[in-house]
Amino acid sequence: MDRSDRPPAVEMRGIVKRFPGVLANDHIHFAVHAGEIHALLGENGAGKSTLMNILSGLYRPDAGEIWICPRGQTQPRRVDIRSPRDAINLGIGMVHQHFMLVPTLTVAENVILGLKDPRFLLRMRHVEEKIKQLSRQYHLQVDPSAYIWQLSVGEQQRVEIIKLLYRGAEVLILDEPTAVLTPQEAEELGRTLRRMAEEGKAIIFITHKLDEVIVFSDRVTVLRAGRNIATLDTARTDKAELARLMVGREVLFRVEKPAGVVCTNGEPPVLEVIQVEALNDRGLPALQGVSLEVCSGEIVGIAGVAGNGQRELAEVVTGLRPVTRGRVLVRGQDLTNQPPLRFIEAGVSHIPGDRLGMGLAGNLPVSDNLVMKAYRREPIANGPFLSRRAVLSFAQKLIQAFQIVTPTASVPVRTLSGGNLQKTILAREITASRDFASDHRRVLVAIHPTRGLDVGATEAVHRTLLEQRAQGAAILLISEDLEELLALADRIAVMYEGCIMGVVDATSANIEQLGLMMAGETHMTKETADRL
Ligand SMILES: Nc1ncnc2c1ncn2[C@@H]1O[C@H](COP(=O)(O)OP(=O)(O)OP(=O)(O)O)[C@@H](O)[C@H]1O
Ligand SMILES: [Mg+2]
Repeated sequence: MDRSDRPPAVEMRGIVKRFPGVLANDHIHFAVHAGEIHALLGENGAGKSTLMNILSGLYRPDAGEIWICPRGQTQPRRVDIRSPRDAINLGIGMVHQHFMLVPTLTVAENVILGLKDPRFLLRMRHVEEKIKQLSRQYHLQVDPSAYIWQLSVGEQQRVEIIKLLYRGAEVLILDEPTAVLTPQEAEELGRTLRRMAEEGKAIIFITHKLDEVIVFSDRVTVLRAGRNIATLDTARTDKAELARLMVGREVLFRVEKPAGVVCTNGEPPVLEVIQVEALNDRGLPALQGVSLEVCSGEIVGIAGVAGNGQRELAEVVTGLRPVTRGRVLVRGQDLTNQPPLRFIEAGVSHIPGDRLGMGLAGNLPVSDNLVMKAYRREPIANGPFLSRRAVLSFAQKLIQAFQIVTPTASVPVRTLSGGNLQKTILAREITASRDFASDHRRVLVAIHPTRGLDVGATEAVHRTLLEQRAQGAAILLISEDLEELLALADRIAVMYEGCIMGVVDATSANIEQLGLMMAGETHMTKETADRL
């Protein structure tokens, strides 16, 4: 790609953005050219979403300029972007970290939502035709007449992208698009982005996955603490250099996992799931005779493509979903269909996959979110009241221990960056379980605990999980990241269509074998197993 003779499609100069107590963007310079995929990289809270929210008209910068050079023109001009509508009129559109679709409307209705069309009635049939055509052109499979609530996250994301293409976006910004995708969907998205770039669009995509930066992007810009640290040609860099630029120190990428101490002195497993059946939200069978044991000091990984019953399994073992058959035992105690509080009191804690949906109360302060599970105990509970001072000092300790980036403990938790939301949940859940049960009684259920976390924070979470394991917790780790499972788990169970396809020892497992089981390969013969 030769871009030397053309000005950038978009150039942001000296962008400054302050929030109370935070300098989120500190004189950032950022440029993207037509035809390129430009990765934006940086630690949690580095200012990536803020910068892109400015470009897409959601936030106004405190200082700085934005210049654009539309396709076919040679002279850039300075623009004033006051709203998302201004941005889209200039050909700039963004798919946000948290989707913004209306669940009760169809795909087509969402695509045209907010469009000012001079005609009185938009012909739905024409809209659907155009969606189908875009969907073919960019291999973005969606059904225009389906309702949003019926769609998987991956499909919803495709709708968001089509929405931008429908509006003629030439600069597309995607904020951590792959964080919610399966590995296969992520690869497919990579191909779609390449197709769009080949047609002359400029693509900016934010990710924490260095492999994706290397595979997908042409150039990469690294932010650290609100500043632009470097912009590099992807072909001339590597993961180690990028990680170092991001974090400001060497990153190990892999934590040492000491040998496990599984089920010593004939103790029963801490968590037992026996022939469990359960329905999903639509009333269809989600778990079909699942049996599983997790012992003290053991991490059992659950692998599988999203939507094969992992979420329902996590809910069943935390008391959030009733079972229709079978039993759930914690430390030999039958908790089948007991309320969540019984599970919490038995020492079960839960790091949910959906951060804002069920993990946090967005409008409440960070501190309150951190104490949500510890509030019944002294010193936080002061008779029937909460001790405000104890809440704050408890929160301060966790903020420090888990390196949560926030100006103070009293800001609403929704103002934290994506990765710091995840750290907040993690801090609360790990300490809550410590409160309710002695170390060797604890059960920790973690769903994608590192999704959306930067490399440094991922390393810290991995270390925390291994520490918990060393202290005797029984950990159920649900992840789509096979490398993560192989690095952390002692045993890995593979789920497919609500069943456990098999359980393998993590030391002898490999990615190909797990991949086959994830695709539903049930009866692996000994010869196949040996070959793998
Ligand atoms: N609306 C807001 N109000 C107050 N502070 C905010 C707001 N939005 C962002 N911030 C703060 O600005 C800083 C940068 O946040 P930003 O969301 O841009 O980070 P990020 O690089 O996208 O991180 P992540 O990888 O975790 O998503 C953070 O300290 C965050 O708490
Ligand atoms: Mg972000």
